[in-house]
Amino acid sequence: MGFSTLVLAAGAGTRMKSQKPKVAHEILGKPLIRWVIDAALEAGSDEVFTVLGHGREITEPLASDTNIIIQDEQLGTGHALMIAQQSLEAAGVDTLVVLSGDTPLLRAATIQDLVSAHLSRGADVSLLTMCVEDPTGYGRIVRDEQEDFLSIVEHKDASASELAINEVNSGVYCFNTANLFDILKDLQNDNTQGEYYLPDVAALTLAQGGDVAALLAEDAYELAGINDRVQLAEATAEASWRINTQHMLDGVTIIDPSSVWIGPDVKLASDVEILPLTTLTGNTSIGSGSIIGPMSRVSDSVIGENCVVDDSVLIEAVLEDMVSVGPRAYLRPGTIMRVGSKAGTHVEIKKSDIGPGSKVPHLSYIGDTELGENVNIGAGSITCNYDGANKHATRIGDGALLAVIPCSSRLSLWARMP
Ligand code: UD1
Ligand code: CA
Repeated sequence: MGFSTLVLAAGAGTRMKSQKPKVAHEILGKPLIRWVIDAALEAGSDEVFTVLGHGREITEPLASDTNIIIQDEQLGTGHALMIAQQSLEAAGVDTLVVLSGDTPLLRAATIQDLVSAHLSRGADVSLLTMCVEDPTGYGRIVRDEQEDFLSIVEHKDASASELAINEVNSGVYCFNTANLFDILKDLQNDNTQGEYYLPDVAALTLAQGGDVAALLAEDAYELAGINDRVQLAEATAEASWRINTQHMLDGVTIIDPSSVWIGPDVKLASDVEILPLTTLTGNTSIGSGSIIGPMSRVSDSVIGENCVVDDSVLIEAVLEDMVSVGPRAYLRPGTIMRVGSKAGTHVEIKKSDIGPGSKVPHLSYIGDTELGENVNIGAGSITCNYDGANKHATRIGDGALLAVIPCSSRLSLWARMP
């Protein structure tokens, strides 16, 4: 079942009213366009192409693992395909899935189902439709009395009777490229918006005697396009509900799922407990028996088994097993907490290795430091290591007890080694 995927993401997304291109907005810490690219890759797409344009300095790094095609002037979704044609032909793509960069909830399985239906029927164009309560903004699916597909009419071009149709175009297509490239030659922009509409390819294919399959998808939520921030919030709630439900079914306790936000790439072992008002994002993983929250934010961190993270923030930190963090600790990138260690109340740690059983219980800043085993850092200690030009590492050996030393700079001199 060989196919490639093209993700359309060149538009500005004016309805977001944002400086940032629409597809760079995030759901649960992951940009919209990444959700779409990852679904295509998971579905087994041979190659992924992305059409970028507006705000490309922001979108290009998000799509760096794809074949990037630049559409400088955005003259419509059909125009985006015209721009992409050369690259697709050069890559020898026969079966092409087209997705919008603003449809983040689409599942890999749905892409696979669409491609198999398309190939087994031998269709020229297959497209997924959905029935929605409020079809505002979507292209309407016009069918004849026999329920056979006729055309797609964009909201802005629709008559009163067409506006009443609630079956709409999802913007998810599968094309036989030989037909697609043939039809693109005839595509016109004589519509209200003066744009080349990709959906017009369907009716033009029919007119030339080709076969179009307009397939009604069961799950409209999955195909929801994000055009404004209200839809962004709705999609986030839906994505979050799905993710939390799966974790709970896999043995994670989440007593208030409505206040817990877990990113799609986070890995949780069974018997992890996530308490309210907690956000876990990026490539975070948490081992069995650990309790996170309430009110904690963890991103791109690895947490071992039986740890406690209470009311704290962790960014790119590593916790081995049985580590205790918080309340109100801030562990910044490069922090490694070894087995049984502790970072207590109002403690900030950056780029430091806290040895097994070592404790930083109260009101301290530990930066660029190596602590040995079972070190105890007294309240209010600071390892300051910056001499105005260079940052020096601090090393404190096994079993050291740093009692309260009033002047922080004295501590750093004392502790600094050549
Ligand atoms: C589009 C469809 C509509 C469908 C809806 C589903 C068209 C004309 N209409 O409408 O039938 O119901 O999606 O969500 O296709 N883009 C480009 N280059 C362009 C224009 C757009 O790459 O020149 C990209 C956008 O960045 C976006 C996607 O294509 O990711 C869809 O464009 P958008 O403007 O959101 O189309 P809709 O009006 O939602
Ligand atoms: Ca859209």
